[in-house]
Amino acid sequence: MPGPLENKRVILGVTGSIACYKALDLASKMVQAGALVDTVMSYGATQFVTPLAFRSITHREVVTDLFDPDSTYSIEHIELAQRADLVVIAPATAHCIAKLAAGLADDSLTTTVLAATAPLLVAPAMDGGMYSNAATQENMAKLRQRGVLIAGPASGRLASGLIGMGRLLETPELLGHIAYALGKDGDLAGRTIVVSAGGTMEPIDPVRVITNHSSGKMGYALAEAGRDRGAKVILVAAPTGLPDPALVEVVNVKTAQEMCDAVLQRVKGADALIMAAAVADYRPKNEAEQKIKKSGGDLTIDLAKTTDILEAATGDFVKVGFSAETQNLIANAKVKVGSKNLDLIVANDLTDPDSGFGVDTNKVTLIDRDLNVDELPVLTKYEVGHRVLDRVSKLLGNKTG
Ligand code: CTP
Repeated sequence: MPGPLENKRVILGVTGSIACYKALDLASKMVQAGALVDTVMSYGATQFVTPLAFRSITHREVVTDLFDPDSTYSIEHIELAQRADLVVIAPATAHCIAKLAAGLADDSLTTTVLAATAPLLVAPAMDGGMYSNAATQENMAKLRQRGVLIAGPASGRLASGLIGMGRLLETPELLGHIAYALGKDGDLAGRTIVVSAGGTMEPIDPVRVITNHSSGKMGYALAEAGRDRGAKVILVAAPTGLPDPALVEVVNVKTAQEMCDAVLQRVKGADALIMAAAVADYRPKNEAEQKIKKSGGDLTIDLAKTTDILEAATGDFVKVGFSAETQNLIANAKVKVGSKNLDLIVANDLTDPDSGFGVDTNKVTLIDRDLNVDELPVLTKYEVGHRVLDRVSKLLGNKTG
């Protein structure tokens, strides 16, 4: 499964905000992800960053002046607009948003947008006062009503030095919005998928916990893959160092019990549950109220069994488990298919250097309810996510692409 931007035609509209410099990074990341990026700059944008910078990054002509007699692109950009898979305007100034809302077409970018039939994603960037101004808010509401996707802005330090709402989203977040925009009508559109991720933390006392080495990367990649094919994804996440994926609902939990409560509540009415989290099987029976002080001898901590979330989760949804093993991978995973009543289990061998905790790749074996075994090659965790979702999609009776 290629990445969400692979071979996609994206028109990148850039308008006159100091955040233009960030659009260069966005263009670069989109090109690296396999997209064909055509940049259309407003006059204001060219005052901040040169067209040459975008041309160097995208290896494509950059459209600037609608009336440039030397540019064939000034006519072709209408054709570009019609072939595009997505139009992204980042940064979009208040002025640009006002023009879009009014349907004006007085420069290359606005004519391109009007001619385009592809989805439009707008990432505003402006001063906080301009953003909160009723005119801007009304214009944004108009765009939303027409189905335009809006990414951000974020709150934080603005170019003026003031703190407020109006910062352009950072590139990774913008890429999440772009992936969503490209995949929103995918085979999982209209489906809700609950994904768990990370290693739970079971408190011993106010400063110590029992946990495991799970980085959460597999669950987060699954959540992004689900988002990128149209699903509404609810990610129940134990603590990880990972940023929240854009356009995924994240429910933060710490303990196995909190994860259990969150999952059982969210899975009601969902189409699938995928438990990628490393849930503690045991927790300290009693959490000490104060920090346990060192004493002369050894210390024994009594552990109580936690609820098995997958076993407890019953209902009319596709149920997928993970099985992290250090020995007898397939045999152990097969037992879990039966004991946890699973539609699919994803078995991964923790002793393999390409698999498991912390790394970006995974080598997994998929085992279905009938115990058919499908050994996959080493793939990125995002690709593994798609392979798992291919199965989920089939089980849900969706037509996969
Ligand atoms: N799991 C769960 N609730 C638990 C423990 C595990 O839902 N309390 C889920 C995990 O998220 C995973 C699957 O069960 O999807 C298998 O987890 P794993 O740790 O491999 O197996 P266990 O059932 O805990 O058995 P063992 O530790 O003996 O291998």
